Amino acid sequence: MKTENSKVNGIQKKYETVSSDVLIIGAGGAGLRAAIEAFDNEASVVVVSKSLLGKAHTVMAEGGIAASVANVDSKDNWKVHFSDTIVEGVYIGNWRMAEIMTKEAPDRVYELERYGALFDRTPDGKIMQRAFGAHTYRRLCHVGDKTGLELIRTLEDQILHRDVNVMDEVFITKLFIKNNSVSGALGIRLRTGEIILFRTKTVILCTGGAGRLYKVTSNSWESTGDGIALAYNAGAELMDMEMIQFHPTGMVYPPGVKGLLVTEGIRGEGGILLNAKGERFMLRYSPEKKELDARDVVARAIHSEIEAGRGTEHNAVYLDISQKGAKFIHQKLPGMYSQFMDFAGVDITKQPMEVAPTVHYQMGGIRVDPETCRTNIKGLFAAGEVASGLHGANRLGGNSLADILVFGKRAGLAAAIYSSKTALSSISTEEISKEIARINSFANKKKGLNPQTIIKVIGETMSEKVGIVRDGKDLGLALTKIQALRKKAKNVGVSGSLKFNPGLLSCLEVEGMLTTAEAIIRSAIARKESRGAHTRKDFPKKDPKFKKNILSYKNGNSMKLKMVSVPSMPDRLKQLVKLEVY
Ligand code: FUM
Repeated sequence: MKTENSKVNGIQKKYETVSSDVLIIGAGGAGLRAAIEAFDNEASVVVVSKSLLGKAHTVMAEGGIAASVANVDSKDNWKVHFSDTIVEGVYIGNWRMAEIMTKEAPDRVYELERYGALFDRTPDGKIMQRAFGAHTYRRLCHVGDKTGLELIRTLEDQILHRDVNVMDEVFITKLFIKNNSVSGALGIRLRTGEIILFRTKTVILCTGGAGRLYKVTSNSWESTGDGIALAYNAGAELMDMEMIQFHPTGMVYPPGVKGLLVTEGIRGEGGILLNAKGERFMLRYSPEKKELDARDVVARAIHSEIEAGRGTEHNAVYLDISQKGAKFIHQKLPGMYSQFMDFAGVDITKQPMEVAPTVHYQMGGIRVDPETCRTNIKGLFAAGEVASGLHGANRLGGNSLADILVFGKRAGLAAAIYSSKTALSSISTEEISKEIARINSFANKKKGLNPQTIIKVIGETMSEKVGIVRDGKDLGLALTKIQALRKKAKNVGVSGSLKFNPGLLSCLEVEGMLTTAEAIIRSAIARKESRGAHTRKDFPKKDPKFKKNILSYKNGNSMKLKMVSVPSMPDRLKQLVKLEVY
């Protein structure tokens, strides 16, 4: 690490410099898997993470990882998994990404097992699999209800045994781009306020989603859409940003845990949904699949029951697994038992839970090449939730853990290969100084506007106007609100220095949150139909005209949108897809 100086307006600015072939931003499953692959392919690797290593939204994929290893249902194979994924994405998912993911997921699961993950077992000692919504077969390999946590623990162990430089509690504020290629990034070490310049040949964005744009979400504080905004500002294309997944079941009380995930594994293991009148309402909405229909279907059904006045006292519905008995629940769902007991005083072996939809995942994100995860900016890659394409209009539960392992590995390999043929490029002192000055401008600002006042309104606007069911009028109002907030956000600032200052972090996040919100709203306005997770009251039907992907990108100071055709699926794969409607 080198310390350097730069001057702006005569003020001396100090920063450290860290150089590498590959800089990975984000230390969830995608970031860690990418780091392993890049390192094993001879690249020098730095991983930065906004929070502490091991703390990632990956842990909220609790119920399992989807892979057609066919241990429980012998008829399963990648072709059925492919068909399920394309149908669930309502035909706007990228066929090649779905093919890659469904073919490679089993290998990534066995690799994870070799790395040390302790999966639950079938009686004959194979990896156990459970049912999940809209999967034809029992396909989710799992570790009780803590699969994501086990995945992160296992990958972290691999990272600690490699010479990978992990820098946690570092927030990246800007990517430097020269001649449409990545040249580096600037970040702040949150604990000390030190500024760090990353000189790098490649960047892999693995920053996850943006659930924190909403008031009620399963996402923890880190998920503020940072990678989306970094990529957008660097000139990368975003795709299908309107596609936000509401997980059907989040906790509703006490207020401190509102939105916290209640795993689909409960329904996978036989949990049923009841309204306040005790009716098993999924029989009406989805007589065949019932509680195990796709997430959008179940989330909308719960929303409708609550809207119709058949909700519980906490504006929720009941989820009941008590009929399975205490022994079964303690064995299969120990995390859920503790979560409800500790937070809500509810014993789920005897009582039903109260649950309601919670923002969980973003299917849209940075547009990437299916084979390599590269973006339209040279040297810039993206993998995991921050990338788009694989899930189309909706994601199957468990496909996210498969996604991060499969495409994390591919991104790591592609970045290592690219960096082996590329030299580090220079970054202008002026650009560095300008960004350092921008960071400093938020600190020691006695009359600065508290960034939380803006973040609160973003949450209210997104939850109230860009929710499960949308319409043109509300979306228009939401856009106007976000544009007004952008103007206000110019005044954010906090007292205190750069050192360990959460308010400063919020100042740095807020602009990116507004950019991400704007992309979601503009794309939602443009998609004048209902498809998958995107439901428009004013356009309640799916429309073949919109069997398209919607791109958003930066043009000068404004955001532009473009509809592009979904890459056409080869005939050999078309034959596999169960019901191509349009
Ligand atoms: O419900 C769950 O356990 C979540 C899984 C996922 O989002 O893939």
